[in-house]
Amino acid sequence: MRVGVLTGGGDCPGLNAVLRAIVRKGERQYGDELVGFLDAWEGVMERRTQPLTVETMRGMLPRGGTVLGTRRGSPFDRPDGVELVEATISDMGLDALIVVGGNGSLSVACNLFTKCGLPIIGVPKTIDNDIEGTDLTFGFNTAVQIATDAIDRLHTTAESHDRVMVVEVMGRHSGWIATHAGIAGGATVVLIPERPFDIEEVCDRIVPRHLRGRFASIVVVAEGALPREGTIDLADQEVDRHGHIRLGGIGNLVADEIGRRTGFETRPVLLGHVQRGGTPTAFDRVLSTRFGVAAIEAVHDEAWGEMVALQGDRIGRTPLTEVVGKTRPVDIDLFTNVAQIFFA
Ligand code: F6P
Repeated sequence: MRVGVLTGGGDCPGLNAVLRAIVRKGERQYGDELVGFLDAWEGVMERRTQPLTVETMRGMLPRGGTVLGTRRGSPFDRPDGVELVEATISDMGLDALIVVGGNGSLSVACNLFTKCGLPIIGVPKTIDNDIEGTDLTFGFNTAVQIATDAIDRLHTTAESHDRVMVVEVMGRHSGWIATHAGIAGGATVVLIPERPFDIEEVCDRIVPRHLRGRFASIVVVAEGALPREGTIDLADQEVDRHGHIRLGGIGNLVADEIGRRTGFETRPVLLGHVQRGGTPTAFDRVLSTRFGVAAIEAVHDEAWGEMVALQGDRIGRTPLTEVVGKTRPVDIDLFTNVAQIFFA
């Protein structure tokens, strides 16, 4: 078969490992030809491609980012976009298109399957771990490890100066990274998008620690965390050219408020894209490899419109129609019955 592959949305450690696995199994076991599209849907519409072979993917398992490049944006954003995608697939004689992406790219993939009948297979990707229909996404484990390493380092500097450190991690709609890194790093408080926070309550947790002689605290805040209505004024949020709200900054606000309200020296640390960069953990390399192998198997089963997924400890498939339009919230039981036990 002739199979197109693209990586879309924000980059994520493990993307190259997925590509390598698709190519390895596709080329060696099925005799497929794999065509990589550059820069996500832009490359499909403009027919910018790169051959993906076992040889070109050599050494890519540990490499972060994506060799294909990635972009936000969708063919549905331009009047001729969908026609261009359809023309590329038929003119290039592609039998299938594998879309490795997050909620945005998978929703485009789903629409191209349901509305245009294109032969599409999805692979879930995001450090945020917020995709429905899979128990985990690759990249999440790496991001949690990076955030935990940072928190470990911040403990020692916070203790030396008797400071409060506010660590902002990614997590646009869900607090998976914040909760896991908060548990692993021994955070004093964790703030997540699923639970609007009251800054007074946050301070009320920190102050008694100081009275007990513990002068350093670590507050982990997800970038999408929101103050309870009427508690803190938020500045207007910037939007990028695809209408994607640019988050990042709630950590500064929380640090200012804690410092002002408690009088304790407080410093913000915004981890930002560091969490998406660099080599994937061994766990993510294994998950990415399993997803890649499963994706090319799904192509040969002609399981169009399905997404490969981790279900328990097995790799299964979930229809894209059950995935799109939803975000998977953090496991609230983990947050309340485990993470919260260790707060302050
Ligand atoms: O890929 C998910 C994510 O890392 C979110 O956590 C974050 O809000 C967003 O991407 C940032 O996107 P960009 O890199 O386009 O600014």
